[in-house]
Amino acid sequence: MRLRKCERCIAALSLIWFVFGITFTIMLLMSASQDKQETIDAVMRYEKNSLLAVNTSQEAIRKESPKQSAGATEYVKVYAEEKNELYTSVAVPGERWPAPDYDIHAFYYIWYGNPTLNGKYLHWNHQYLPHWDGKMAVQWPTGFHIPPDDIGSNFYPELGLYSSANVSTIREHMIQLRTAGIGVISVSWYPPDQADGQGESTDYLIPRILDVANQYSIKVCLHIEPYKGRSASSLSTMLQYIFHNYGNHAAFYRRKHRGRELPLFYIYDSYNVKKQEWVRLFKPDGDLSIRNTKLDGIYIGLLVEQKHQEELISSGFDGYYTYFASDGFTHGSKGQNWKELSQQAVANDVFFIPSVGPGYIDDRIRPWNKINTQLRKDGNYYELKFRLAIEAAPRIISITSFNEWHEGTQIEKAVPKKTKFYKYEDYLPNQSDFYLLLTRKWIHKFKRHKG
Ligand SMILES: *[C@@H]1O[C@H](CO)[C@@H](O)[C@H](O)[C@H]1NC(C)=O
Ligand SMILES: *[C@@H]1O[C@H](CO)[C@@H](O)[C@H](O)[C@H]1NC(C)=O
Ligand SMILES: *[C@@H]1O[C@H](CO)[C@@H](O)[C@H](O)[C@H]1NC(C)=O
Repeated sequence: MRLRKCERCIAALSLIWFVFGITFTIMLLMSASQDKQETIDAVMRYEKNSLLAVNTSQEAIRKESPKQSAGATEYVKVYAEEKNELYTSVAVPGERWPAPDYDIHAFYYIWYGNPTLNGKYLHWNHQYLPHWDGKMAVQWPTGFHIPPDDIGSNFYPELGLYSSANVSTIREHMIQLRTAGIGVISVSWYPPDQADGQGESTDYLIPRILDVANQYSIKVCLHIEPYKGRSASSLSTMLQYIFHNYGNHAAFYRRKHRGRELPLFYIYDSYNVKKQEWVRLFKPDGDLSIRNTKLDGIYIGLLVEQKHQEELISSGFDGYYTYFASDGFTHGSKGQNWKELSQQAVANDVFFIPSVGPGYIDDRIRPWNKINTQLRKDGNYYELKFRLAIEAAPRIISITSFNEWHEGTQIEKAVPKKTKFYKYEDYLPNQSDFYLLLTRKWIHKFKRHKG
């Protein structure tokens, strides 16, 4: 009797626990997905807000030290000196490397700077970005990282805290890209008078990137960032600037498409601009249409949510890419969705360009964002993403990234480093070129798959 009574009360208790457990799990899941949406929003908002921030901070710098604006002149001088050497340097010993694959595009960042070349650190000292919720924000560190021992990255570059303006560094990068077999870099681009939230304007570097890339048979395309005031008419103006200044360079990437050789552009956060705007540029009957003009090209928009697939196509884009290296961060970044996204692209005669990445970790700049961390698992994460991409049979695969160090998506050479404050992640037990070699292996598989 007693026992049965007890059994009953255990059953009742279990039931209560069960109901409680389910409710709790549902609540947890709901809050997790709400959290995720907020993280996505925060990460997306980040560029927009930080653009405003840099505007003011750059103005402040200009006011404080008028010499700073002489920086650009200084670079030009250094470049002019190095240019001689660049053009007389020994030819590239091509046999060491596989042929560059122009169907492989790596996202490349030119916002890094150091005191020797730039008068101060740029980007290596990245700010700790505050949590979107003010109440949460107070628990996390604030301010900037203090290089050289403390940088805004979980990994440490083998080339040290380089300046993207250094021609020797650019050359080193080209060698690493060729080692991997990559044929195209997609360079993060802001208009000449703008920059991202942490850096300074970088457009003046494009000519030297093109020149050095050309020496290594690497092609360059641009990744149009969500610069301030981006609209159909401003982009039309910017495209005229780009085509006029870079369009005829031998290293400016062009691709055969519908019987013509057209340049290709990635347009980051394209959803930030309304469809009515894109239509003006990309539809043949738009009032600012670039179609069949000298600004025509292959324009690739960013697919974040599922609905963007239809939106981008009906806006007149020539295709979509997924950018984010953290699987499942968005609909587009989920490898499981790539087959379907690819089939829809084929059905609509547009490009699907999945973005594969070696992992993701950004808690040195977003300490509250561990939820999106993707460990590299000694290369297994990268291999899985590459396999899913190849299985989706796209014409082009993009790599996030060659050197986005803040988000830990870089395949660039990294070295172990331990300081008083922090032990950096590394590629051990493998060497610094591990991700370049893995890339080479998977590009080979991609080539074979294409036949
Ligand atoms: C940004 O700077 C430019 C000039 O440097 C100025 O015209 C513009 O108003 C500034 N914008 C903001 C939002 O501060
Ligand atoms: C440019 O990079 C090279 C190779 O990393 C380095 O030896 C050199 O000191 C750098 N030049 C400047 C001016 O910082
Ligand atoms: C990476 O390291 C593992 C374990 O030591 C080894 O088996 C593998 O061959 C290495 N890969 C490369 C590409 O060096």
